[in-house]
Amino acid sequence: MIRVENLSKTFVLHHQNGIHLPVLWKAELTVNAGECVVLHGHSGSGKSTLLRSLYANYLPDTGHIHVKHGEEWVDLVTAPARKVLEVRKSTIGWVSQFLRVIPRVSALDVVMQPLLDLGVPREECYVKAASLLTRLNVPEHLWHLAPSTFSGGEQQRVNIARGFVVDYPILLLDEPTASLDEKNSAAVVQLIDEAKARGAAIVGIFHDEAVRTRVADRLHPMGAAA
Ligand SMILES: Nc1ncnc2c1ncn2[C@@H]1O[C@H](COP(=O)(O)OP(=O)(O)O)[C@@H](O)[C@H]1O
Ligand SMILES: [Mg+2]
Repeated sequence: MIRVENLSKTFVLHHQNGIHLPVLWKAELTVNAGECVVLHGHSGSGKSTLLRSLYANYLPDTGHIHVKHGEEWVDLVTAPARKVLEVRKSTIGWVSQFLRVIPRVSALDVVMQPLLDLGVPREECYVKAASLLTRLNVPEHLWHLAPSTFSGGEQQRVNIARGFVVDYPILLLDEPTASLDEKNSAAVVQLIDEAKARGAAIVGIFHDEAVRTRVADRLHPMGAAA
């Protein structure tokens, strides 16, 4: 589902004497349907940079990121912006460590939106969103409120529900369980298992070793770019 070739990325800090920070160097990564690959390396080893590149948030200096989008392969490095948006809409789901809160939009609408964008009828979106919010223990009295006043853990569970509301063929997870207690981490692990079982290709970063070893089919070592 994902084929990364020869991927290099150096950040240039223009406001700090143009210092060059090599983060990825000729990185290679292949992820098949139904497996979860966990990026593994110390803090600053480029895990988030690689994951963001897989979502085309960062443009690498060299290399290719081929992803299976329906029946075609798309190289996210060279694809035009509208193609990238199309791939994100139906093929790649993204869960970051924090929810980007949109003022005045209810938790339920935040979760339903990616499914609504695919043209799924509202009632069906509601059922799926409600089921996810319930499984992630977000109390029902919060569903119609905007998440801006929620606790960090509650916001994160809304974020995770949003990431899993569409059955994306590819899922990118950047420390989704970082602010969760054991019970909710277990709920996320369950969602990951189900996604793998339906054939999703997952790339994740998990700070917690127990979660990491539980979900990883394979660890992908990171670091020593320079
Ligand atoms: N947008 C950016 N601009 C400049 N430097 C960055 C940027 N993003 C990450 N870095 C640097 O790249 C290195 C790797 O960061 P990151 O990918 O976040 O590591 P990890 O997720 O493994 O902790 C760090 O030294 C970080 O400071
Ligand atoms: Mg990181």
